[in-house]
Amino acid sequence: MSALFVGENKFFLPETQSTNSYAISLLKNVNLPEGTLIYTHHQTAGRGRRNHGWESEPGMNVTASYTLKPTFLEVKKIFSLYVISSLAIYDVLSHFLPDGQFDIKIKWPNDILINGKKIAGVLNENILKEHHIQHSIIGIGININQTKFPKTIKATSLKILTNKDINLESVFEVLNSRLEKHYMKLKAERKANKNHYDSEIIKRYYKNMYKLNETCLLETAKGLGSYIIRGINENGLLLVEDDKKIVHEFDLHQVVWKI
Ligand code: BTN
Repeated sequence: MSALFVGENKFFLPETQSTNSYAISLLKNVNLPEGTLIYTHHQTAGRGRRNHGWESEPGMNVTASYTLKPTFLEVKKIFSLYVISSLAIYDVLSHFLPDGQFDIKIKWPNDILINGKKIAGVLNENILKEHHIQHSIIGIGININQTKFPKTIKATSLKILTNKDINLESVFEVLNSRLEKHYMKLKAERKANKNHYDSEIIKRYYKNMYKLNETCLLETAKGLGSYIIRGINENGLLLVEDDKKIVHEFDLHQVVWKI
């Protein structure tokens, strides 16, 4: 099914520093329609979370930002934008991969892995006004046709996995429609004040969550420790259980995976 508004208005930039940065500066001057897509073939200074860069070979991959206006969302629930973007990427990858052959996982907070290697990442940035979300920028990088990556990163791409080149426009068609679908579902669930554990979005997130109910080594303010991953709470904090069965909540800045 094609999207109604996500990706309807779009800007293609042959080259830009970062589509997220471009979207943010554009939003300061122009009232973009919700769902605007900004994409490029070459990011010269792509950004990831925690001040990391995002490297992508020109013309090979999805490097794009969508602008949304989730005015229905409380600021404390902002993480749900990472949830729906991850689900949309999950759907795109399932669409282009043969059924059931690959283990696609959503690694909290913003990575998508296949067979333990990173294939996509999300960078969500928001413009707030008087404690409300005025604009949200969903930056998405998906490795599509690139086959060589620096040895220092464990990365993969659809081409490496399928040995086929994939037309980037066809990836955007699926991405636009799945992002719209999950965004509209989120909107409906928030408007109905749906309970976290009854949410279909959260159920799908749990179904595909990396290391759910498994023991992992994490670095927190207390140092390195083993914890069982138990999911996310209603505000997107990671829930982990220690060896005394106490459940802790960590936010994006309080924990680093050490696996
Ligand atoms: C991460 O893995 O930490 C997130 C990576 C997000 C990369 C995308 S590419 C398009 C958009 N523009 C950016 O500068 N970053 C995001």
